[in-house]
Amino acid sequence: MAKYDVKDIGLAKKGKLRIEWAEMEMPVLRNIKKDFLKKKPLRGVRIAACLHVTTETACLMETLKAGGAEVALCASNPLSTQDDVAASLVKNSRIPVYAIKGENNRTYYQHIKDVLALKPNITMDDGADLVSMLHKSHKALLKHVIGGTEETTTGVIRLRAMADKGVLKYPIIAVNDAYTKHLFDNRYGTGQSTIDGILRATNRLISGSVFVVSGYGWCGRGVAMRAKGMGARVIISEVDPLKALEATMDGYELLPIKEAAKIGDIFVTVTGDINVIHKDCFKVMKDGAIVSNSGHFNVEIDITSLKKLSRSKRTIRDFVDEYTLKSGRRIYILGEGRLINLAAAEGHPSSVMDMSFANQALCSVHMAKNCKTMDNNVYKVPVNIDRKISQLKLEAMGIKIDRLTKEQEEYLNSWELGT
Ligand code: ADE
Repeated sequence: MAKYDVKDIGLAKKGKLRIEWAEMEMPVLRNIKKDFLKKKPLRGVRIAACLHVTTETACLMETLKAGGAEVALCASNPLSTQDDVAASLVKNSRIPVYAIKGENNRTYYQHIKDVLALKPNITMDDGADLVSMLHKSHKALLKHVIGGTEETTTGVIRLRAMADKGVLKYPIIAVNDAYTKHLFDNRYGTGQSTIDGILRATNRLISGSVFVVSGYGWCGRGVAMRAKGMGARVIISEVDPLKALEATMDGYELLPIKEAAKIGDIFVTVTGDINVIHKDCFKVMKDGAIVSNSGHFNVEIDITSLKKLSRSKRTIRDFVDEYTLKSGRRIYILGEGRLINLAAAEGHPSSVMDMSFANQALCSVHMAKNCKTMDNNVYKVPVNIDRKISQLKLEAMGIKIDRLTKEQEEYLNSWELGT
């Protein structure tokens, strides 16, 4: 088996500098790394990670290694790898990485197999492809596994489905559900990085555009907020009445996607579900409509139907495919419908990934310590971890907050006192 598989090991120098740049914005993870170096809480633990291979992920890998873990890394998406980072992790950090930006599906799955060859004790996933392969075709390795962590909403949904059907074979902590993860990473991270991806791919003006966001979860809220801040007329499409109501009261226009399709200039899907922008939408879209996805998998835009409706396709700019319909109208798909923030830009900024990956690091230790008492189920991040991370982040930002007085604490713990 190859010891690593990266695009070009010669990119390591550039990658190292970019990792250094990211680490400057990750004070919580740096603090954990310092502690890990002293205490080695992951000594002897083998961790297989399937994450987006970015500068921030590199900082996490180095932190886990500092804690004594043996780690191997593959990509959690074929188009999100930063090749210079992959090279640096191999060359400078001596961490085996299997990831090449633009790899085909066969190589993508081969790379997951490559990290599984580590015989992991802990799996660290972003989207649950690693867990899925372990349970489907690599069952013999399950005996080594004590637990796992999951980074993203889509992965948590898949894992809960596995747990509900009774097929999940080890405990997994849903890092996504920590407050210090989804309130910041999903909202401000996806908000900023999605706009960043669309801008880098298209260089179009957001101001004055009709900007359609499908899905008003934490990611959708973030994207809509940022598009609105840049002067777009933002329209939300939703299936959940509660979220639709919230979007309305947040000041957005709500429309079914088939109606929004007629007037949108730029579309972003962030729902986690399939065929959100489908054949009937393409049929009514304006000439020049830009369609992108920031959800985990490339299933939200029905590109297969678009191909059938089209008479030609060409790549007009990096990450921009132009489909000319039989009617002559042109529709632009960004990043092949894969998450545009990581395909055309660099993913979430380091400052939010700091908290997400601090959760990953501390949850790995929690898993190593507590796996024997945990069932084969999906667990919440322990409250003390969430709290510790928010405190460390505030401290690093130089923000001071008040403390409850004894009197206030007693009041909160009592029920007798009213007006
Ligand atoms: N997911 C979104 N942004 C990311 C980043 N910068 N690194 C790793 N995973 C991510």
